[in-house]
Amino acid sequence: MNSTYYAACGLEIPHVANDNLEAMIDLQNFFIEVNAKLDETLDNLVPTMETEPATLYSAMRWSLFAGGKRIRPALLVACGRAFGASEFTLYPVAAAVEMMHTYSLIHDDLPAMDDDDLRRGRETCHKKFGEAAAILAGDALQALAFETVANVQELSPVLRVRLISNLGEAAAKMVAGQELDLEAEGRATEVGDLEKIHRNKTGALLAMSARAGALIGGADGDDLSAVSGFGEQLGLLFQITDDLLDITQSTESLGKTAGKDVSARKATYPNAYGIKMASELARDAHASASEYLECIRPRSALLTAINDFVLHRLS
Ligand code: IPE
Ligand code: IPE
Ligand code: MG
Ligand code: MG
Ligand code: MG
Repeated sequence: MNSTYYAACGLEIPHVANDNLEAMIDLQNFFIEVNAKLDETLDNLVPTMETEPATLYSAMRWSLFAGGKRIRPALLVACGRAFGASEFTLYPVAAAVEMMHTYSLIHDDLPAMDDDDLRRGRETCHKKFGEAAAILAGDALQALAFETVANVQELSPVLRVRLISNLGEAAAKMVAGQELDLEAEGRATEVGDLEKIHRNKTGALLAMSARAGALIGGADGDDLSAVSGFGEQLGLLFQITDDLLDITQSTESLGKTAGKDVSARKATYPNAYGIKMASELARDAHASASEYLECIRPRSALLTAINDFVLHRLS
């Protein structure tokens, strides 16, 4: 596989993160492995495009199989691996998280919200299938996410309920964050408000992904707290870099329309603080995430590489 392939998947490893080349190559191979296994798992879980009503399942698949980075599933699998979880128990839960995330993107792009035409390098769900089908595709993905976790027979019923509870809590925070994001459009935002929006709309599901992997691996006590803290900081970092990339990268490399945050007067870190200060705040979040990882050394090598990747990512 060459760098064009990685770029097409949004997995291009930035040169600036290449200080530890070996770790970055391991990470690239890990992303490729997760992508393949996740796609297979999703394909088995989501009804085929021939199933009636075909528009609904085609719309779900249109958005799911469009080449997202799969960072949340990768994080979940990496945290699971760090604590010795069996891989086959991780993938259905990772697929559920990716369904939840894809639902959030479909609804985020609707005319009533961010009104975007391009997502994951192709037309947004509502552009392709119409608004009603896009709303329903999102609804169905959310429902299927919970059903999927409930049905992982290899996990104990107690753990399944805990994961469903964590997923529900994260999804509810995502929705609250989306409301706050919309309400903040065009307004001056205080530093605390901005962080609250980011932690909710994006941070919660990333943090849940990290925590879910660790829980499936049997982590508890200080280890679980460290993974949760790491996930929260990584989630904040992820949305700050998303805001920066909206300004610094092209539509082609992002696979979504660049420059939208400025034109829509979104409450973002660069809009509030400028690019330089926002970049510093991204580095602060990265440093906090690293501190949490120190607590779970030597399990954390892959997670350190993911943290570096999120700071330096190009799409
Ligand atoms: C985009 O998420 C929305 C945000 C939370 C910033 P991703 O950047 O993970 O999108 P995909 O899954 O790679 O398309
Ligand atoms: C979206 O944030 C967060 C979600 C919960 C979907 P953005 O609105 O910044 O995401 P993009 O830039 O459209 O991917
Ligand atoms: Mg949005
Ligand atoms: Mg958006
Ligand atoms: Mg954005």
